[in-house]
Amino acid sequence: MFTDLHSHVLPAIDDGARALADSLAMLDLLRQLGFSVVHATPHQKVGFFVPTREAIDQAHRAVTAAQSADGPVLRLGAENMWDELFLERSQSQKIPGYRDPIVESETPKAFLFELPVALLPPKIEERLFAIRRNGPLPVMAHPERYTGLWNDRPRYERLGQHAALMVDLAALDGAHGAKECKTARWLVEEGLAHAAASDLHQPADARAVASGIAWIRKRKGDTAVTQLLGDGPRQILNGELPI
Ligand SMILES: [Fe+2]
Repeated sequence: MFTDLHSHVLPAIDDGARALADSLAMLDLLRQLGFSVVHATPHQKVGFFVPTREAIDQAHRAVTAAQSADGPVLRLGAENMWDELFLERSQSQKIPGYRDPIVESETPKAFLFELPVALLPPKIEERLFAIRRNGPLPVMAHPERYTGLWNDRPRYERLGQHAALMVDLAALDGAHGAKECKTARWLVEEGLAHAAASDLHQPADARAVASGIAWIRKRKGDTAVTQLLGDGPRQILNGELPI
């Protein structure tokens, strides 16, 4: 069974699910695609969405209380934009990471981050190295999306030594643009992608996610699907960079 490390399934928390009915529909669609564990990763992005831990936990409780018994296990996380808040949190070792809200004392072993799409911040590798040295594993959201990385294989390889590279499944189907599709496919074909995730924002996104999984199966086989959606995410949650 698969583990989704990137989704926006909590209701009215960010630009994902708008209401509880959306959340339940999205979780059911993910269940149909084979996900047994789903981490909701609301945006943490200054000027857009910075939901509090309390609001996230409350939304989590509301969804789990309403979910059917056969639905995926819903856990938490955050999609941290590389902004001033992130940099501050990285210095005080307080980056919101992947967690099981049932286990409150748990220290996150990994966290999800995204970069500004058009302009890469300076010293990414240095910062990732410093965070990783005694702390959690960084996981880069949608590496196919950053224009400054396109066609730069050495940079992807370097970044992939400091962070797990996790492509969006819908990008493999072209949902985010032609160049993003080409890059996501290339990252999977070349074995540079460590994992893949839904990044589901609304029920309608599930069709492209399904096509993305089908594309991996067709081009790389069942073993790659299991690695990118099952074993890889589980290793990441354990703080290990999948090989
Ligand atoms: Fe996202």
